[in-house]
Amino acid sequence: MTPVDPAQTPFRRTDADWWRDAVFYQVYIRSFADGNGDGVGDLAGIRAHLPHLAALGVDALWITPFYPSPMADHGYDVADPRDVEPVFGDLAEFDALLAEAHALGIRVTVDLVPNHSSHQHEWFEAALAAGPGSPERARYLFRDGRGPDGAEPPNNWPSVFGGPAWTRVPDGQWYLHIFAPEQPDLDFTNPEVLADLETTMRFWLDRGVDGFRIDVAHGMAKPEGLPDMEPMEDTGLLDDHGPGDHRFDNDGVHEVHRRIRAVLDEYPGTMAVGEVWVSDDDRLAQYLRPDELQLAFNFKLLTADWDVDELRDAVVHSLATVAGTPAPACWVLSNHDRPRHVTRYGGGEVGTRRARAAALLQLALPGAAYLYNGDELGMPDVDLPDEALQDPIWERSGHTERGRDACRIPVPWSGTAPSYGFSSRAETWLPMPEGWGPLTAAAQEDDPGSVLSLYRAALALRRTSPAFAGEGLDWVPAPDGCLAFRRPGGLVCLLNLSGAPVPLPEGRVLLASADTADGLLPDDAAVWLHA
Ligand code: GLC
Repeated sequence: MTPVDPAQTPFRRTDADWWRDAVFYQVYIRSFADGNGDGVGDLAGIRAHLPHLAALGVDALWITPFYPSPMADHGYDVADPRDVEPVFGDLAEFDALLAEAHALGIRVTVDLVPNHSSHQHEWFEAALAAGPGSPERARYLFRDGRGPDGAEPPNNWPSVFGGPAWTRVPDGQWYLHIFAPEQPDLDFTNPEVLADLETTMRFWLDRGVDGFRIDVAHGMAKPEGLPDMEPMEDTGLLDDHGPGDHRFDNDGVHEVHRRIRAVLDEYPGTMAVGEVWVSDDDRLAQYLRPDELQLAFNFKLLTADWDVDELRDAVVHSLATVAGTPAPACWVLSNHDRPRHVTRYGGGEVGTRRARAAALLQLALPGAAYLYNGDELGMPDVDLPDEALQDPIWERSGHTERGRDACRIPVPWSGTAPSYGFSSRAETWLPMPEGWGPLTAAAQEDDPGSVLSLYRAALALRRTSPAFAGEGLDWVPAPDGCLAFRRPGGLVCLLNLSGAPVPLPEGRVLLASADTADGLLPDDAAVWLHA
Protein backbone atom coordinates (compact mmCIF):
# COMPACT_ATOMS: atom_id res chain seq x y z
CA MET A 1 0.00 0.00 0.00
CA THR A 2 1.20 3.51 -0.84
CA PRO A 3 0.88 5.60 2.30
CA VAL A 4 -0.70 8.97 1.62
CA ASP A 5 1.58 11.74 2.77
CA PRO A 6 -0.66 14.59 3.93
CA ALA A 7 2.05 17.11 3.07
CA GLN A 8 1.85 16.00 -0.58
CA THR A 9 -1.78 16.97 -1.10
CA PRO A 10 -2.78 20.47 -2.13
CA PHE A 11 -5.45 20.47 0.57
CA ARG A 12 -5.38 19.76 4.27
CA ARG A 13 -6.52 16.17 4.77
CA THR A 14 -7.98 17.12 8.11
CA ASP A 15 -10.09 20.07 6.94
CA ALA A 16 -13.21 19.07 8.75
CA ASP A 17 -15.96 20.35 6.51
CA TRP A 18 -14.58 20.56 2.98
CA TRP A 19 -17.63 18.64 1.79
CA ARG A 20 -20.15 21.32 2.79
CA ASP A 21 -19.92 23.11 -0.55
CA ALA A 22 -17.90 20.57 -2.54
CA VAL A 23 -18.64 19.54 -6.10
CA PHE A 24 -18.46 15.76 -6.23
CA TYR A 25 -18.18 13.82 -9.47
CA GLN A 26 -19.79 10.38 -9.66
CA VAL A 27 -17.68 7.92 -11.60
CA TYR A 28 -19.85 4.98 -12.67
CA ILE A 29 -16.78 2.86 -13.07
CA ARG A 30 -17.99 0.56 -15.84
CA SER A 31 -18.80 3.53 -18.04
CA PHE A 32 -16.21 6.23 -17.32
CA ALA A 33 -13.09 5.06 -19.16
CA ASP A 34 -11.52 1.72 -20.07
CA GLY A 35 -7.78 1.46 -19.46
CA ASN A 36 -7.18 -2.18 -20.38
CA GLY A 37 -9.13 -2.58 -23.58
CA ASP A 38 -11.85 -5.02 -22.48
CA GLY A 39 -14.73 -2.65 -23.20
CA VAL A 40 -15.48 -2.08 -19.49
CA GLY A 41 -14.33 0.99 -17.54
CA ASP A 42 -11.76 0.51 -14.79
CA LEU A 43 -9.43 2.19 -12.28
CA ALA A 44 -6.69 2.66 -14.88
CA GLY A 45 -9.22 4.54 -17.02
CA ILE A 46 -9.99 6.87 -14.13
CA ARG A 47 -6.27 7.50 -13.60
CA ALA A 48 -5.84 8.35 -17.26
CA HIS A 49 -8.63 10.92 -17.12
CA LEU A 50 -7.74 12.66 -13.87
CA PRO A 51 -6.49 15.68 -15.87
CA HIS A 52 -10.02 16.05 -17.33
CA LEU A 53 -11.47 16.04 -13.82
CA ALA A 54 -8.89 18.53 -12.55
CA ALA A 55 -9.56 20.85 -15.51
CA LEU A 56 -13.29 20.52 -14.87
CA GLY A 57 -12.61 21.68 -11.34
CA VAL A 58 -14.32 19.05 -9.20
CA ASP A 59 -13.39 18.74 -5.54
CA ALA A 60 -14.00 15.03 -5.02
CA LEU A 61 -14.91 11.77 -6.72
CA TRP A 62 -17.45 9.15 -5.76
CA ILE A 63 -16.41 5.91 -7.41
CA THR A 64 -19.18 3.29 -7.67
CA PRO A 65 -18.35 -0.25 -6.45
CA PHE A 66 -15.13 -1.73 -7.86
CA TYR A 67 -14.99 -4.67 -5.46
CA PRO A 68 -14.94 -8.36 -6.45
CA SER A 69 -18.41 -9.15 -7.74
CA PRO A 70 -20.23 -11.61 -9.98
CA MET A 71 -21.88 -8.46 -11.45
CA ALA A 72 -25.50 -9.53 -11.05
CA ASP A 73 -26.15 -5.84 -10.29
CA HIS A 74 -22.97 -4.50 -11.86
CA GLY A 75 -20.94 -4.33 -8.70
CA TYR A 76 -23.67 -3.58 -6.16
CA ASP A 77 -23.48 -7.30 -5.40
CA VAL A 78 -20.23 -7.34 -3.46
CA ALA A 79 -18.44 -10.66 -2.92
CA ASP A 80 -15.54 -9.11 -0.98
CA PRO A 81 -15.78 -5.48 0.12
CA ARG A 82 -12.06 -5.28 0.91
CA ASP A 83 -10.49 -6.03 -2.45
CA VAL A 84 -10.64 -4.96 -6.11
CA GLU A 85 -12.48 -6.81 -8.86
CA PRO A 86 -9.89 -7.91 -11.46
CA VAL A 87 -12.02 -6.42 -14.26
CA PHE A 88 -11.42 -3.02 -12.62
CA GLY A 89 -7.77 -3.42 -11.53
CA ASP A 90 -6.15 -4.27 -8.22
CA LEU A 91 -5.34 -2.65 -4.88
CA ALA A 92 -2.04 -1.23 -6.15
CA GLU A 93 -3.93 0.48 -8.97
CA PHE A 94 -6.39 1.89 -6.47
CA ASP A 95 -3.59 3.22 -4.27
CA ALA A 96 -1.96 4.86 -7.28
CA LEU A 97 -5.26 6.44 -8.30
CA LEU A 98 -5.78 7.76 -4.79
CA ALA A 99 -2.30 9.27 -4.59
CA GLU A 100 -2.59 10.86 -8.04
CA ALA A 101 -6.03 12.29 -7.35
CA HIS A 102 -4.85 13.74 -4.05
CA ALA A 103 -1.82 15.27 -5.76
CA LEU A 104 -4.26 17.07 -8.10
CA GLY A 105 -6.32 18.33 -5.18
CA ILE A 106 -9.16 15.87 -5.75
CA ARG A 107 -10.52 13.88 -2.84
CA VAL A 108 -11.74 10.32 -3.35
CA THR A 109 -14.83 8.73 -1.84
CA VAL A 110 -15.95 5.16 -2.46
CA ASP A 111 -19.20 3.22 -2.27
CA LEU A 112 -20.12 1.33 0.87
CA VAL A 113 -22.82 -1.32 0.31
CA PRO A 114 -23.94 -2.37 3.80
CA ASN A 115 -27.49 -3.61 3.18
CA HIS A 116 -26.59 -6.76 1.27
CA SER A 117 -23.72 -8.85 0.02
CA SER A 118 -23.34 -10.94 -3.09
CA HIS A 119 -24.63 -14.51 -2.95
CA GLN A 120 -21.00 -15.37 -3.71
CA HIS A 121 -19.72 -13.67 -0.53
CA GLU A 122 -18.02 -16.31 1.63
CA TRP A 123 -20.53 -15.63 4.39
CA PHE A 124 -23.49 -16.48 2.20
CA GLU A 125 -21.83 -19.59 0.84
CA ALA A 126 -21.16 -20.65 4.44
CA ALA A 127 -24.78 -19.87 5.37
CA LEU A 128 -26.10 -22.13 2.62
CA ALA A 129 -23.74 -24.92 3.64
CA ALA A 130 -24.41 -24.66 7.37
CA GLY A 131 -28.18 -25.07 7.36
CA PRO A 132 -31.14 -23.75 9.35
CA GLY A 133 -30.53 -22.39 12.85
CA SER A 134 -26.75 -22.04 12.37
CA PRO A 135 -24.75 -18.94 13.32
CA GLU A 136 -23.76 -18.72 9.65
CA ARG A 137 -27.40 -18.25 8.66
CA ALA A 138 -27.89 -15.66 11.40
CA ARG A 139 -25.82 -13.12 9.43
CA TYR A 140 -28.60 -13.01 6.84
CA LEU A 141 -32.39 -13.08 7.04
CA PHE A 142 -33.30 -16.73 6.62
CA ARG A 143 -36.84 -17.69 7.65
CA ASP A 144 -39.21 -20.62 7.32
CA GLY A 145 -41.96 -20.16 4.76
CA ARG A 146 -45.70 -19.91 5.32
CA GLY A 147 -48.49 -22.24 4.26
CA PRO A 148 -48.39 -26.01 3.78
CA ASP A 149 -44.78 -27.23 3.79
CA GLY A 150 -43.61 -23.62 4.14
CA ALA A 151 -43.96 -23.29 0.39
CA GLU A 152 -45.09 -19.65 0.54
CA PRO A 153 -42.61 -16.84 1.18
CA PRO A 154 -42.38 -15.69 4.83
CA ASN A 155 -44.08 -12.39 4.02
CA ASN A 156 -45.47 -10.44 1.08
CA TRP A 157 -42.51 -8.16 0.43
CA PRO A 158 -41.67 -7.59 -3.23
CA SER A 159 -38.14 -7.11 -4.53
CA VAL A 160 -37.32 -3.64 -5.81
CA PHE A 161 -36.20 -5.31 -9.03
CA GLY A 162 -39.45 -7.27 -9.51
CA GLY A 163 -40.76 -10.59 -8.17
CA PRO A 164 -40.82 -11.60 -4.50
CA ALA A 165 -38.11 -10.42 -2.09
CA TRP A 166 -37.60 -14.04 -0.98
CA THR A 167 -35.86 -16.99 -2.56
CA ARG A 168 -36.14 -20.57 -1.30
CA VAL A 169 -33.05 -22.70 -0.76
CA PRO A 170 -32.94 -26.50 -1.18
CA ASP A 171 -33.48 -27.28 2.54
CA GLY A 172 -36.77 -25.36 2.41
CA GLN A 173 -35.85 -22.09 4.14
CA TRP A 174 -36.17 -18.74 2.44
CA TYR A 175 -33.78 -15.78 2.46
CA LEU A 176 -34.62 -12.12 2.08
CA HIS A 177 -33.30 -10.00 -0.78
CA ILE A 178 -34.80 -6.55 -1.19
CA PHE A 179 -32.94 -6.36 -4.51
CA ALA A 180 -31.89 -9.27 -6.76
CA PRO A 181 -31.71 -12.87 -5.44
CA GLU A 182 -27.94 -12.52 -5.90
CA GLN A 183 -28.02 -9.75 -3.24
CA PRO A 184 -29.05 -11.36 0.08
CA ASP A 185 -29.86 -8.82 2.83
CA LEU A 186 -27.62 -8.89 5.88
CA ASP A 187 -29.07 -8.93 9.41
CA PHE A 188 -27.86 -5.80 11.17
CA THR A 189 -29.13 -6.97 14.54
CA ASN A 190 -26.21 -9.41 14.42
CA PRO A 191 -23.18 -7.67 15.98
CA GLU A 192 -20.84 -9.53 13.64
CA VAL A 193 -22.43 -7.79 10.66
CA LEU A 194 -21.90 -4.30 12.03
CA ALA A 195 -18.37 -5.17 13.15
CA ASP A 196 -17.56 -6.34 9.63
CA LEU A 197 -18.87 -3.09 8.16
CA GLU A 198 -16.53 -1.19 10.47
CA THR A 199 -13.64 -3.38 9.33
CA THR A 200 -14.46 -2.51 5.72
CA MET A 201 -14.64 1.20 6.50
CA ARG A 202 -11.27 1.13 8.26
CA PHE A 203 -9.73 -0.85 5.43
CA TRP A 204 -10.44 1.97 2.97
CA LEU A 205 -9.97 4.85 5.43
CA ASP A 206 -6.55 3.50 6.38
CA ARG A 207 -5.60 3.52 2.70
CA GLY A 208 -6.52 7.22 2.63
CA VAL A 209 -10.03 7.53 1.17
CA ASP A 210 -11.88 10.69 2.11
CA GLY A 211 -15.30 9.19 2.68
CA PHE A 212 -18.14 7.03 1.50
CA ARG A 213 -21.36 7.07 -0.44
CA ILE A 214 -23.67 4.73 1.45
CA ASP A 215 -25.81 2.52 -0.72
CA VAL A 216 -29.47 2.04 0.32
CA ALA A 217 -28.72 3.94 3.52
CA HIS A 218 -32.37 3.63 4.60
CA GLY A 219 -32.39 -0.14 4.24
CA MET A 220 -30.26 -1.88 6.83
CA ALA A 221 -32.85 -2.26 9.62
CA LYS A 222 -35.90 -4.47 9.24
CA PRO A 223 -38.95 -4.37 11.53
CA GLU A 224 -39.31 -6.97 14.29
CA GLY A 225 -41.11 -10.06 13.01
CA LEU A 226 -40.89 -8.97 9.33
CA PRO A 227 -44.63 -8.19 9.05
CA ASP A 228 -46.45 -8.02 5.73
CA MET A 229 -46.35 -4.62 4.08
CA GLU A 230 -49.25 -2.75 2.56
CA PRO A 231 -49.76 -4.18 -0.90
CA MET A 232 -48.80 -1.55 -3.47
CA GLU A 233 -48.91 -1.44 -7.20
CA ASP A 234 -45.55 0.17 -7.75
CA THR A 235 -43.13 -1.25 -5.24
CA GLY A 236 -39.88 -0.79 -6.97
CA LEU A 237 -37.34 1.20 -8.72
CA LEU A 238 -35.79 3.20 -5.96
CA ASP A 239 -38.63 5.37 -4.87
CA ASP A 240 -40.19 6.13 -1.52
CA HIS A 241 -43.53 4.43 -0.96
CA GLY A 242 -44.20 5.85 2.48
CA PRO A 243 -44.71 4.31 5.91
CA GLY A 244 -46.69 1.28 4.66
CA ASP A 245 -43.53 -0.03 3.00
CA HIS A 246 -41.77 -1.94 5.80
CA ARG A 247 -38.69 -2.71 3.75
CA PHE A 248 -37.15 0.72 4.28
CA ASP A 249 -36.65 3.56 6.76
CA ASN A 250 -37.13 1.55 9.94
CA ASP A 251 -36.00 3.38 13.06
CA GLY A 252 -33.28 0.84 13.83
CA VAL A 253 -31.30 2.10 10.85
CA HIS A 254 -30.19 5.17 12.78
CA GLU A 255 -28.15 3.07 15.19
CA VAL A 256 -26.18 1.79 12.19
CA HIS A 257 -25.54 5.36 11.06
CA ARG A 258 -24.34 6.33 14.52
CA ARG A 259 -21.78 3.53 14.38
CA ILE A 260 -20.70 4.58 10.89
CA ARG A 261 -20.30 8.16 12.08
CA ALA A 262 -18.29 7.11 15.12
CA VAL A 263 -15.77 5.41 12.84
CA LEU A 264 -15.61 8.43 10.51
CA ASP A 265 -15.01 10.72 13.46
CA GLU A 266 -11.81 8.82 14.17
CA TYR A 267 -10.56 9.94 10.74
CA PRO A 268 -10.78 13.74 10.65
CA GLY A 269 -11.71 15.17 7.28
CA THR A 270 -13.76 12.16 6.16
CA MET A 271 -17.47 12.08 5.45
CA ALA A 272 -20.42 10.03 4.27
CA VAL A 273 -23.34 10.80 1.98
CA GLY A 274 -26.40 8.60 2.15
CA GLU A 275 -28.61 7.28 -0.60
CA VAL A 276 -31.81 7.74 1.35
CA TRP A 277 -35.01 7.36 -0.65
CA VAL A 278 -37.20 8.95 2.01
CA SER A 279 -39.33 11.81 0.75
CA ASP A 280 -40.80 13.06 4.03
CA ASP A 281 -38.70 16.07 5.04
CA ASP A 282 -38.76 15.30 8.76
CA ARG A 283 -37.93 11.62 8.39
CA LEU A 284 -35.12 12.41 5.99
CA ALA A 285 -33.76 15.02 8.42
CA GLN A 286 -33.32 12.29 11.03
CA TYR A 287 -30.47 10.82 8.95
CA LEU A 288 -28.68 14.16 9.22
CA ARG A 289 -28.63 14.47 12.99
CA PRO A 290 -25.25 15.55 14.43
CA ASP A 291 -24.14 11.97 15.07
CA GLU A 292 -25.31 10.47 11.75
CA LEU A 293 -24.65 11.26 8.07
CA GLN A 294 -22.93 14.46 6.95
CA LEU A 295 -24.96 14.56 3.71
CA ALA A 296 -27.99 12.91 2.14
CA PHE A 297 -28.73 13.15 -1.57
CA ASN A 298 -31.58 15.41 -2.49
CA PHE A 299 -33.62 13.22 -4.79
CA LYS A 300 -36.39 15.78 -5.23
CA LEU A 301 -34.31 17.64 -7.79
CA LEU A 302 -33.34 14.34 -9.41
CA THR A 303 -36.97 13.40 -9.91
CA ALA A 304 -38.40 16.85 -10.72
CA ASP A 305 -39.64 17.52 -14.24
CA TRP A 306 -38.90 20.73 -16.14
CA ASP A 307 -41.66 22.59 -14.37
CA VAL A 308 -41.17 25.76 -12.39
CA ASP A 309 -43.35 24.65 -9.47
CA GLU A 310 -41.71 21.23 -9.25
CA LEU A 311 -38.26 22.76 -9.32
CA ARG A 312 -39.13 25.37 -6.69
CA ASP A 313 -40.72 22.68 -4.50
CA ALA A 314 -37.62 20.52 -4.80
CA VAL A 315 -35.46 23.38 -3.58
CA VAL A 316 -37.85 24.45 -0.82
CA HIS A 317 -38.24 20.92 0.56
CA SER A 318 -34.55 20.17 0.41
CA LEU A 319 -33.70 23.34 2.29
CA ALA A 320 -36.47 22.66 4.80
CA THR A 321 -35.08 19.15 5.35
CA VAL A 322 -31.65 20.40 6.34
CA ALA A 323 -32.81 23.54 8.16
CA GLY A 324 -32.88 21.95 11.62
CA THR A 325 -29.76 19.83 11.07
CA PRO A 326 -26.03 20.55 10.87
CA ALA A 327 -26.04 19.40 7.21
CA PRO A 328 -26.06 21.50 4.07
CA ALA A 329 -28.29 20.46 1.18
CA CYS A 330 -26.84 18.10 -1.41
CA TRP A 331 -28.04 18.59 -4.98
CA VAL A 332 -28.15 15.99 -7.70
CA LEU A 333 -29.64 16.11 -11.21
CA SER A 334 -28.68 12.68 -12.54
CA ASN A 335 -27.16 9.39 -11.44
CA HIS A 336 -26.75 5.79 -12.61
CA ASP A 337 -30.26 4.81 -11.49
CA ARG A 338 -32.43 7.45 -13.16
CA PRO A 339 -32.98 8.92 -16.62
CA ARG A 340 -30.37 11.59 -17.33
CA HIS A 341 -31.71 15.13 -17.03
CA VAL A 342 -31.07 16.03 -20.69
CA THR A 343 -33.55 13.28 -21.53
CA ARG A 344 -35.87 13.92 -18.59
CA TYR A 345 -36.24 17.53 -19.72
CA GLY A 346 -37.29 16.57 -23.24
CA GLY A 347 -34.12 15.39 -24.97
CA GLY A 348 -32.55 16.78 -28.12
CA GLU A 349 -31.75 20.47 -28.38
CA VAL A 350 -34.52 21.44 -25.97
CA GLY A 351 -33.29 18.96 -23.37
CA THR A 352 -29.74 20.21 -23.72
CA ARG A 353 -30.78 23.85 -23.39
CA ARG A 354 -32.72 23.05 -20.25
CA ALA A 355 -29.91 20.89 -18.86
CA ARG A 356 -27.52 23.84 -19.26
CA ALA A 357 -29.92 26.01 -17.29
CA ALA A 358 -30.41 23.29 -14.66
CA ALA A 359 -26.65 23.04 -14.21
CA LEU A 360 -26.53 26.72 -13.26
CA LEU A 361 -29.46 26.18 -10.89
CA GLN A 362 -27.80 23.18 -9.25
CA LEU A 363 -24.42 24.87 -8.91
CA ALA A 364 -25.86 28.14 -7.57
CA LEU A 365 -27.73 26.46 -4.73
CA PRO A 366 -26.07 26.49 -1.31
CA GLY A 367 -24.53 23.18 -0.24
CA ALA A 368 -22.80 20.26 -1.93
CA ALA A 369 -23.45 19.15 -5.51
CA TYR A 370 -22.99 15.79 -7.22
CA LEU A 371 -22.36 15.60 -10.96
CA TYR A 372 -22.84 12.28 -12.74
CA ASN A 373 -20.17 11.34 -15.28
CA GLY A 374 -21.22 12.76 -18.63
CA ASP A 375 -23.32 15.58 -17.13
CA GLU A 376 -20.47 17.90 -18.07
CA LEU A 377 -20.80 16.78 -21.71
CA GLY A 378 -24.59 17.04 -21.80
CA MET A 379 -24.95 13.27 -22.31
CA PRO A 380 -28.49 12.05 -23.00
CA ASP A 381 -29.94 8.59 -22.34
CA VAL A 382 -29.70 6.08 -25.17
CA ASP A 383 -32.50 3.68 -26.05
CA LEU A 384 -30.92 0.27 -26.40
CA PRO A 385 -32.28 -2.73 -28.28
CA ASP A 386 -33.67 -5.51 -26.07
CA GLU A 387 -30.71 -7.79 -26.68
CA ALA A 388 -28.25 -5.17 -25.36
CA LEU A 389 -30.03 -4.70 -22.01
CA GLN A 390 -28.06 -5.82 -18.95
CA ASP A 391 -29.85 -4.40 -15.92
CA PRO A 392 -31.34 -7.22 -13.77
CA ILE A 393 -34.57 -5.21 -13.72
CA TRP A 394 -35.21 -6.18 -17.36
CA GLU A 395 -35.26 -9.92 -16.65
CA ARG A 396 -36.87 -9.74 -13.22
CA SER A 397 -39.74 -7.55 -14.38
CA GLY A 398 -40.58 -10.10 -17.06
CA HIS A 399 -39.42 -7.63 -19.72
CA THR A 400 -41.86 -4.92 -18.67
CA GLU A 401 -39.29 -2.51 -17.19
CA ARG A 402 -36.28 -1.69 -19.33
CA GLY A 403 -34.14 -0.79 -16.31
CA ARG A 404 -31.28 1.65 -16.02
CA ASP A 405 -28.93 0.84 -18.89
CA ALA A 406 -30.00 3.89 -20.91
CA CYS A 407 -28.28 6.23 -18.43
CA ARG A 408 -25.16 4.06 -18.12
CA ILE A 409 -23.76 4.35 -21.66
CA PRO A 410 -19.95 4.75 -21.72
CA VAL A 411 -18.61 8.31 -21.78
CA PRO A 412 -17.40 9.57 -25.19
CA TRP A 413 -13.92 11.09 -24.97
CA SER A 414 -12.69 11.70 -28.51
CA GLY A 415 -13.00 10.72 -32.17
CA THR A 416 -15.99 10.26 -34.43
CA ALA A 417 -16.97 6.59 -34.10
CA PRO A 418 -17.68 4.14 -31.25
CA SER A 419 -16.08 3.79 -28.81
CA TYR A 420 -14.99 7.44 -28.98
CA GLY A 421 -11.78 6.96 -27.04
CA PHE A 422 -13.61 5.21 -24.19
CA SER A 423 -11.76 1.98 -24.95
CA SER A 424 -9.15 0.74 -27.39
CA ARG A 425 -11.85 -1.52 -28.85
CA ALA A 426 -15.03 -0.50 -30.63
CA GLU A 427 -17.38 -2.84 -28.73
CA THR A 428 -18.23 -1.69 -25.25
CA TRP A 429 -20.22 -3.39 -22.48
CA LEU A 430 -23.21 -1.26 -23.44
CA PRO A 431 -23.11 -0.20 -27.09
CA MET A 432 -22.40 3.44 -27.92
CA PRO A 433 -24.45 5.10 -30.67
CA GLU A 434 -23.32 6.58 -33.97
CA GLY A 435 -23.15 10.34 -34.24
CA TRP A 436 -21.59 11.16 -30.88
CA GLY A 437 -18.49 12.87 -32.30
CA PRO A 438 -19.71 16.36 -31.32
CA LEU A 439 -20.54 15.13 -27.80
CA THR A 440 -16.98 14.01 -27.02
CA ALA A 441 -14.88 15.84 -24.47
CA ALA A 442 -12.26 16.51 -27.15
CA ALA A 443 -14.80 18.13 -29.47
CA GLN A 444 -16.16 20.32 -26.68
CA GLU A 445 -12.86 21.29 -25.11
CA ASP A 446 -12.07 24.38 -27.16
CA ASP A 447 -15.63 25.40 -27.97
CA PRO A 448 -16.61 28.26 -25.63
CA GLY A 449 -20.28 27.50 -26.31
CA SER A 450 -20.09 23.84 -25.28
CA VAL A 451 -21.66 22.24 -22.24
CA LEU A 452 -18.16 21.34 -21.05
CA SER A 453 -17.06 24.98 -21.21
CA LEU A 454 -20.17 26.02 -19.29
CA TYR A 455 -19.42 23.52 -16.51
CA ARG A 456 -15.77 24.54 -16.32
CA ALA A 457 -16.67 28.21 -16.07
CA ALA A 458 -19.37 27.51 -13.49
CA LEU A 459 -17.10 25.42 -11.29
CA ALA A 460 -14.29 27.99 -11.51
CA LEU A 461 -16.64 30.80 -10.45
CA ARG A 462 -18.09 28.71 -7.66
CA ARG A 463 -14.61 28.10 -6.36
CA THR A 464 -13.26 31.64 -6.64
CA SER A 465 -16.05 34.22 -6.65
CA PRO A 466 -17.01 35.89 -3.35
CA ALA A 467 -20.59 35.94 -4.66
CA PHE A 468 -20.93 32.32 -3.51
CA ALA A 469 -20.17 33.05 0.14
CA GLY A 470 -22.66 31.99 2.81
CA GLU A 471 -24.97 29.00 3.04
CA GLY A 472 -28.48 30.41 2.91
CA LEU A 473 -30.60 31.87 0.13
CA ASP A 474 -33.41 34.41 -0.18
CA TRP A 475 -36.06 34.10 -2.84
CA VAL A 476 -36.34 37.33 -4.80
CA PRO A 477 -39.26 38.53 -6.91
CA ALA A 478 -39.20 37.17 -10.46
CA PRO A 479 -41.53 37.23 -13.48
CA ASP A 480 -44.19 34.49 -13.68
CA GLY A 481 -42.70 31.18 -14.70
CA CYS A 482 -39.27 32.13 -13.33
CA LEU A 483 -37.30 31.37 -10.18
CA ALA A 484 -34.83 33.80 -8.66
CA PHE A 485 -32.81 33.68 -5.47
CA ARG A 486 -29.95 35.56 -3.89
CA ARG A 487 -27.06 34.15 -1.87
CA PRO A 488 -25.58 36.14 1.04
CA GLY A 489 -22.38 36.80 -0.96
CA GLY A 490 -24.38 38.58 -3.66
CA LEU A 491 -24.92 35.82 -6.21
CA VAL A 492 -28.28 36.14 -7.96
CA CYS A 493 -29.51 33.17 -9.97
CA LEU A 494 -32.48 33.59 -12.30
CA LEU A 495 -34.03 30.61 -14.08
CA ASN A 496 -36.55 31.22 -16.85
CA LEU A 497 -39.24 28.67 -17.70
CA SER A 498 -41.82 31.31 -18.64
CA GLY A 499 -41.91 30.55 -22.36
CA ALA A 500 -40.59 33.99 -23.34
CA PRO A 501 -37.47 36.12 -22.76
CA VAL A 502 -37.39 38.12 -19.50
CA PRO A 503 -35.31 41.18 -18.56
CA LEU A 504 -32.05 40.54 -16.70
CA PRO A 505 -32.11 41.63 -13.06
CA GLU A 506 -29.68 44.26 -11.73
CA GLY A 507 -26.08 43.18 -11.41
CA ARG A 508 -23.00 42.14 -13.30
CA VAL A 509 -23.48 38.99 -15.39
CA LEU A 510 -21.07 36.27 -14.25
CA LEU A 511 -22.28 33.44 -16.47
CA ALA A 512 -25.34 32.50 -18.50
CA SER A 513 -26.52 29.27 -20.05
CA ALA A 514 -27.63 31.14 -23.21
CA ASP A 515 -26.91 34.44 -24.93
CA THR A 516 -27.97 37.49 -22.89
CA ALA A 517 -26.33 40.17 -25.02
CA ASP A 518 -29.64 41.96 -25.62
CA GLY A 519 -30.26 42.36 -21.88
CA LEU A 520 -32.81 39.55 -21.92
CA LEU A 521 -32.65 36.02 -20.55
CA PRO A 522 -34.17 33.59 -23.10
CA ASP A 523 -36.71 30.92 -22.19
CA ASP A 524 -35.23 27.68 -20.79
CA ALA A 525 -32.12 29.50 -19.63
CA ALA A 526 -30.44 30.60 -16.42
CA VAL A 527 -28.07 33.40 -15.52
CA TRP A 528 -25.74 34.17 -12.64
CA LEU A 529 -25.24 37.79 -11.65
CA HIS A 530 -23.27 39.47 -8.89
CA ALA A 531 -25.46 42.12 -7.30
C1 GLC B 1 -28.60 1.51 -4.97
C2 GLC B 1 -27.75 1.70 -6.18
C3 GLC B 1 -28.31 0.87 -7.28
C4 GLC B 1 -28.30 -0.58 -6.85
C5 GLC B 1 -29.06 -0.76 -5.52
C6 GLC B 1 -28.81 -2.09 -4.91
O1 GLC B 1 -29.87 2.00 -5.15
O2 GLC B 1 -27.66 3.05 -6.53
O3 GLC B 1 -27.60 1.03 -8.48
O4 GLC B 1 -28.91 -1.37 -7.82
O5 GLC B 1 -28.63 0.18 -4.58
O6 GLC B 1 -27.53 -2.16 -4.37
